[in-house]
Amino acid sequence: MAKTIQAVRGMNDILPTQSASWQYLEAVLRDVVHAYGYSEIRLPVMEKTELFRRSIGEVTDIVEKEMYTFEDRNGDSLTLRPEGTAGCVRACMEHGMLHNQVQRLWYKGPMFRHERPQKGRYRQFYQIGVEALGMEGPDIDAEMIFMTTRMWRSLGLKDVTLQVNSLGSPEARTTYRSALVEYLSSRAGELDEDSRRRLDSNPLRILDSKNPEMKAIISTAPQLPDYLDSDSRVHFETLCALLDDAGISHEVNPRLVRGLDYYSRTVFEWVTDQLGAQGTICAGGRYDGLVEYLGGRPTPATGFALGMERLIALLEAGGSELPGNRPHVYLVLGGEQGTRSGMVFAEELREAVPGLRIQTNCGGGSFKSQFRRADRSGAVIALVVGDDEAMRGQVTFKPLRGAGEQEVLSRQDIAGRLSQVLDLQLNRMAEE
Ligand code: HAM
Repeated sequence: MAKTIQAVRGMNDILPTQSASWQYLEAVLRDVVHAYGYSEIRLPVMEKTELFRRSIGEVTDIVEKEMYTFEDRNGDSLTLRPEGTAGCVRACMEHGMLHNQVQRLWYKGPMFRHERPQKGRYRQFYQIGVEALGMEGPDIDAEMIFMTTRMWRSLGLKDVTLQVNSLGSPEARTTYRSALVEYLSSRAGELDEDSRRRLDSNPLRILDSKNPEMKAIISTAPQLPDYLDSDSRVHFETLCALLDDAGISHEVNPRLVRGLDYYSRTVFEWVTDQLGAQGTICAGGRYDGLVEYLGGRPTPATGFALGMERLIALLEAGGSELPGNRPHVYLVLGGEQGTRSGMVFAEELREAVPGLRIQTNCGGGSFKSQFRRADRSGAVIALVVGDDEAMRGQVTFKPLRGAGEQEVLSRQDIAGRLSQVLDLQLNRMAEE
């Protein structure tokens, strides 16, 4: 027998047992972004490679070694998007959405990075991202953080902490970069291979090194906040004050630099210690120079993206009971008349009870085997329509999970009875 084909490494199926949790999470997060007046933008999963090279930066890990880049049949170099900001900015520019107007946008979907897969790090992963373009003050940065805080609150997440930093203006960053390179060069012999490589190309990323042996050198390195320009300092202090006003605790992490080149001024990350090495569930910041760099008029911008897989893992780690896709009702059918009449009855019920999830037994089978399927479906109630019930206009109502006694009811009473029992169930779940 031929070997069966497996999924691409690092690319996951989201199975029917998991999809309800995803839908729940997406619905909660969508409601939050809508509460702040953001509109969804749907973007292609593929863009011209040049867009990412220019936006994310030539000497970043993503562009250097993680992009899924290929030539299409016309010989054009295309890349599966490793993130959403670049495409979102490209779309805004292309559709003239930045002329004399601001944009508050969000998107969701798969992103692709050829990283070494491990728990919480995949080659296809899902983000929900938010971008605000055309606003330069710290108020909109604060709005980003308010929004994420509200997301965690809506989901009942507690084990997350906020780290913030300012990268300053590009000029301030250049001055800091020179000071850092000078310091690190003086200790070049102590640098690990990765850091030596980055010394010329992207020295700020050395501050992000996960190698414990680099800790001592990094801890005495010049600090970014000491090099901030005064406008950026005021911007950052105002942001921190706005967070204080809203009671949002935050840790200023002077070594937070982010792995994408487009950032300036505010950067932030929400981190947790519940997920091992991949503890950043959400990250973002300001990218005031990007629109101009891509050929548009200077347009300030800020945003963030969160990793759906990590968020779900964190909810599960916290013991959150995420919703399932189980039907409420399983309809057991017997005999020819019963089957025909029952199929129509199921349609009537779907009409009469909005939101009811009713799974009809298809493919026949003995009552015994149908009840086994009913049990496996996770339904709380089985309804039975056999030839007898069909003839008398009745239905047998059988609670499956200790939700009361079996009874025979007339067809027109079923919708009311179902609403009653399901309401009770929902209330009980809410109390638990
Ligand atoms: P990022 O930090 O590269 O930023 O990714 C944002 C989030 O996506 C991460 O914090 C993490 O939760 C999730 N993530 C990233 N890579 C993976 C992976 N390989 N597997 C699973 N989850 C992952 C950006 O993408 C920026 N575009 C964010 C942004 C928007 N900045 C401004 N606007």
